[in-house]
Amino acid sequence: MRLRKVINYGIFVLVIVISCSLTTIARGFDIPPPTQKIEFAQQTSDLMLATLFAALTQEFDETTPQNVEQGKHSISLIFNDKNKDMRLVGTFGPLRENDRPYDKFERQAHALALAGEAYTSVQWVEDQWYYRRSIPLSNFRPECALCHTNYQVGPTSQQVGALMLRVPIK
Ligand code: HEC
Repeated sequence: MRLRKVINYGIFVLVIVISCSLTTIARGFDIPPPTQKIEFAQQTSDLMLATLFAALTQEFDETTPQNVEQGKHSISLIFNDKNKDMRLVGTFGPLRENDRPYDKFERQAHALALAGEAYTSVQWVEDQWYYRRSIPLSNFRPECALCHTNYQVGPTSQQVGALMLRVPIK
């Protein structure tokens, strides 16, 4: 009789411990990171955006009708498909199928980008919090149409897609 009580008590304690740990794990996905950490990620994304913008401007400055294929190859290597932290996203005859919006954030951000609006969000993706943002892109340089032959010869104010960045929040 006594042994049974001990066993029952043991099972009771075990159930409590397991449910407490499951609740804690589940809540980890819910609790957003503190404001300072979000700000840090936001500032990181500002630096990252400036760097990428400078790199792309350099590439556009160098693009001529003679080196379009090399330029496309170069941009493709910079925006390596394995790197999900920076992506060029669009649906107008995309140069790479992988550049279509691939999740809820990108679909929302892309729709807003076509209206010229930026979008940001703090999200749990896979196993990590991220600061995510999208920067709308317009056909703002004549070189765009050299590589994207379906775009009008610019510059025009047509919105064509977005640059999407994501910064892990540590
Ligand atoms: C030197 C060639 C080149 C020039 C110039 C260029 N792009 Fe691109 N662009 C690319 C390549 C290559 C990709 C695909 C990158 C990848 O592999 O993900 C791309 C991707 C994109 C995408 C994502 C959708 C898609 O078509 O794949 C958008 C939107 C975009 N570029 C906008 C622009 C705009 C706006 C300009 C002008 C300001 C521009 N690009 C100029 C080569 C170019």
